[in-house]
Amino acid sequence: MQSESQTVKDFGEQWLHYRDVKGFFGSLELFSDIIFPFLIPDDIKDCNVAEIGSGSGRIVNMLLQSGARHIIAVDPSEAFEVLRRNIEQPEKVTCLKITGDQLPAYGNLDYVFSIGVLHHIPEPAPVVEAALRALRPGGHFLVWLYGREGNGLYLALIEPLRVLTKRLPHFMLTSLVEIMYWPLVLYIKLCHRLPLPLRGYMMSVLEKMSPEKRRLIIYDQLNPACAKYYTQYEAKKLLSDGKFANIRIHHRHGYSWTVIGTKPINF
Ligand SMILES: C[S@@+](CC[C@H](N)C(=O)[O-])C[C@H]1O[C@@H](n2cnc3c(N)ncnc32)[C@H](O)[C@@H]1O
Repeated sequence: MQSESQTVKDFGEQWLHYRDVKGFFGSLELFSDIIFPFLIPDDIKDCNVAEIGSGSGRIVNMLLQSGARHIIAVDPSEAFEVLRRNIEQPEKVTCLKITGDQLPAYGNLDYVFSIGVLHHIPEPAPVVEAALRALRPGGHFLVWLYGREGNGLYLALIEPLRVLTKRLPHFMLTSLVEIMYWPLVLYIKLCHRLPLPLRGYMMSVLEKMSPEKRRLIIYDQLNPACAKYYTQYEAKKLLSDGKFANIRIHHRHGYSWTVIGTKPINF
């Protein structure tokens, strides 16, 4: 599918440019924030897990720091070597250069994670099905998705802009990121004084990122061919259609969804 392969190509370029996973961007503090309120890092200790869409490897390292026993890291992009190089304990990680729907049906994993990935895949259902097959009965699938609710003003600005930016060559996009960086810095400062949209995210997440990582996040918003903003209903349906049970959802910082589901015991 053209837009799927374009998305994978886009991320290859992104990770080859923004390689490092250090600082708050790759921290256990941020991981705790992403998996809250369903999990804490300690829940992952001694577990066998997979991450679908590992990018440059920051979530893999967060899982290692949480004490995971073994991790399957899946990413189809050309930045696969960046992923391999960034991993802190390679002996505990198996890297697979495949798309998420090709995740082998291990049937014994305790957790599968997919953080910021499914909203970039035009047809995510086969990936959700692969996650189900890879888990043990009673295992959990946790995903983080862009949300539609709470993003009204942002989407009114970004969606028309993306019609252009997702077609720009890399060097033009990095120049645009540079132009947008300084208004973003100002906006974060204003959030300290005014109840502006996305204030929670700006102050709890973006402000703690290094300048390079803030630039990466702007790039990441403008670049991918496919970026779907899920309603709460769509986010829950993604997992319920995939036969997950006990689905719970959290409106993270009022702009995105953390969703967790469990593989039924009698599956
Ligand atoms: C926004 S990045 C998220 C990376 C990482 N999870 C993180 O939070 O830093 C999305 C990643 O999904 C990968 N991806 C795109 N299509 C995919 C697919 N069909 N299956 C698995 N991964 C995919 C991209 O190559 C990219 O590295």
